[in-house]
Amino acid sequence: MKKAEPQNWSLDTLFVHGGEYIRPMQQPGAPTIQPIYTSTTYLHPDTERLDQAFEENAAGAQSFVYARQGNPNTHALEHVLAKAEGGVGAVVMGSGMAALQGALLATGLAPGSTILVAQDLYGATASLLRTIFVPLGVKVVFKDLCCADAGEIIREEEPDVVLVETISNPLVKITDLDAISATAREVGATSIIDNTFATPYLVQPLAHGFDVVVHSITKYISGHGDATAGAVISSKNSFIQQMRTYAALLGPMLGPFESYLSMRGLKTLALRMERHCSNALQVARFLSTHAAVERVHYPGLECHPQHELANRLLRKGLYGGLLSFELKQQTREAAFRFMNELRLCLPVTTLGDIHSQVTYPAISSHRNITPEERRRSGITEGCIRLSVGIEDARDIIEDLDQALNAS
Ligand SMILES: Cc1ncc(COP(=O)(O)O)c(C=O)c1O
Repeated sequence: MKKAEPQNWSLDTLFVHGGEYIRPMQQPGAPTIQPIYTSTTYLHPDTERLDQAFEENAAGAQSFVYARQGNPNTHALEHVLAKAEGGVGAVVMGSGMAALQGALLATGLAPGSTILVAQDLYGATASLLRTIFVPLGVKVVFKDLCCADAGEIIREEEPDVVLVETISNPLVKITDLDAISATAREVGATSIIDNTFATPYLVQPLAHGFDVVVHSITKYISGHGDATAGAVISSKNSFIQQMRTYAALLGPMLGPFESYLSMRGLKTLALRMERHCSNALQVARFLSTHAAVERVHYPGLECHPQHELANRLLRKGLYGGLLSFELKQQTREAAFRFMNELRLCLPVTTLGDIHSQVTYPAISSHRNITPEERRRSGITEGCIRLSVGIEDARDIIEDLDQALNAS
């Protein structure tokens, strides 16, 4: 019978076993997989212990009272994600967007505060800032933070919060984590990073000095295209405490079934990331030699301007499962023709699933920003994003080849 969770597991093992240590393992005949707890409320032996459970629950302990404030399934997922990212705690939520807005609110933003954000942030995150935070009196400054003088920009703007993504969308630029977090600390800003594309398997930004990590679990962590979820992880107890308070009051909690699916996905994250990354490298190499392709954006290619930075930051030999490329014919019609010809790769608006998926950013992730803003971010009319799945790389390449040749 297992008693205590070992502290020295590698991530692969943590993903597989980590959730087991916070369910009633000691019971004879305990299930190996955590059941789904649908109950909205939890019984305690007496009122004194119910009183105590309220206190423990508010502190994030394994003590449950009412489902909006957590249940065993969300707790297990939070436990593993906090460990995976090297944080002191995690709060899971109903979507990546809920996690992002929760993290931003928990920084204590108020009218007059400034958020400095990466220019090529995920489109909905940019819209969240413009639509919700700007009307509240928060100043939002968009800048290219993947450039060499990002530190200087942070010093100039003196923001209260810096928000970046580890790997940008759709041009897969890599953020210099150490440089950004160090300068953010220097000016007293809270640094938040969206680590959705890299996952903790490729890099753990808290170890590079970030205060807060956000995930859309919907993507690689759950990985099977059947759960919408998000997470916030921090190295600071006070931040996690604030997140719990917001989560309990605003109510964007993750349901038990989605928590279960996310945990089930997380168990195979290491295996999947290895395959996503090795497939993506093969596909990037293929595309970069194709006559119909103008340019490929993938940090695993030696010619990528940030190849060295990627080597320094990411797990050895792995560069992520996402790439983008530009067709020689830089028109929306050519992009649509190519996507319509695909037989294996799915034309959908997501990434990080087991299936290979293509997206045309101008009508999906970057739909709500102006064509001028897209151009400024380097997203051309011929730009297509590809989330490389875990199928046989030869089948993915064959599908891309036939669609490029036919369009
Ligand atoms: C980088 C990134 N962050 C956050 C989100 C939002 O996640 P969700 O769709 O789970 O709300 C997405 C969604 O595509 C994303 O790509």
